[in-house]
Amino acid sequence: PLIIAAIALAFTHFSIPITYYWYLRTRWLNSLWNIVVDPSHTPMISVIVPTYNEAGFIEGKLDNIYDQEYPRDRIEVVVVDSASTDGTPERVLEWSNRHPDIALKLVREPVRRGKAHALNEALKHVSGEIVIITDADSRLLGRDSLKKVAAYLSDPSVGAVSCVKIPEASGPEGIEASYRGFYNVLRVAESNLHSTPVFHGELAAFRRNLLEEVGGFPTDIGSDDSHTATLIALKGYRAIIARDLVCEEAIPRKGYHMWRVRRAQHLVQHFWKILRARHKVPKRFKTVLYTETYLHLFNPWILLAAAILLAASAATGSLLAILLLALGLALLLFKPYRAWIATQLYLIAAAVRNLWTRE
Ligand code: GDD
Ligand code: MN
Repeated sequence: PLIIAAIALAFTHFSIPITYYWYLRTRWLNSLWNIVVDPSHTPMISVIVPTYNEAGFIEGKLDNIYDQEYPRDRIEVVVVDSASTDGTPERVLEWSNRHPDIALKLVREPVRRGKAHALNEALKHVSGEIVIITDADSRLLGRDSLKKVAAYLSDPSVGAVSCVKIPEASGPEGIEASYRGFYNVLRVAESNLHSTPVFHGELAAFRRNLLEEVGGFPTDIGSDDSHTATLIALKGYRAIIARDLVCEEAIPRKGYHMWRVRRAQHLVQHFWKILRARHKVPKRFKTVLYTETYLHLFNPWILLAAAILLAASAATGSLLAILLLALGLALLLFKPYRAWIATQLYLIAAAVRNLWTRE
């Protein structure tokens, strides 16, 4: 009986994401539902870059924005710095002096109270119809990124836009390969169906009036970008990740596992907050939101339970249990399976760590 329960749990754990992926991939990956873009739409864009000790990245980041092919007089850059101690704000001012042809505001917070708090402070100083948040340690690949953001947001049903991510230094050939990667396929297909509940801090664009309607960025959870995008989708607008908007994400050289756990913590906080608020979910967004909530909050624990039950029945000498456990371990030789299992472990660690720190 233990072993039957274990098999049923393991089957549930793997079959739900596989079915979901298969459904999105075959049905939605290549069919964009109802978005009409106007490439000539060039509203005022406010680009907010939050910084805390980003001296090593900030000039490259500002150059990256400056290089965008978008009317320069329609861009306003707002750097919001929270008491960096490495000279970040000074570098911003020097850079701005060297580039007088682009509007730049530096907002300085006297104490650090987190990224979302800083973003809300910056929002008081922006005038663009579109607000883009972009992390200092990331880059927009493609000089037409702002143009594309504006084009997607020219459709009145679209409220927020984000990018697909590729890990740094994987180069342009990597782009093609990576938006076929598992998570990018999900994000793009979810967006084609209606909206995705996971956004990326590398590039998160919003209609400013909708940001105001949802009350700015939440300061009590880590996933400010995903949460805000989801609230906008819950209002019935589309919150989409476009496959032709690509960003490079910085992978930390030190503390990789802790970084993955922190990211997972932010997503877990985000999905709990959505679940607890008991929103009315637009019909087309239901499958995506419910499945992603399940996959982030519950599915990892089902795997853990299956593993514990298998180990327990292996301990009582069940040959089948021993074989299944051995199979589960042998499959770790395959990279996608290994990556999947690692993600489950990060999500479990994240839920546990959220009990004492939300940072
Ligand atoms: N002004 C300000 N104040 N900026 C901050 C603060 C702060 O207290 N803390 C972090 N930042 C800035 C960083 O300088 C960087 O530009 C950006 O916010 C993201 O911070 P990282 O430290 O690079 O975060 P990450 O890469 O681990 O976090 C990622 O995941 C989060 C969701 O899990 C980012 O993509 C975030 O944008 C995202 O919200
Ligand atoms: Mn980062």
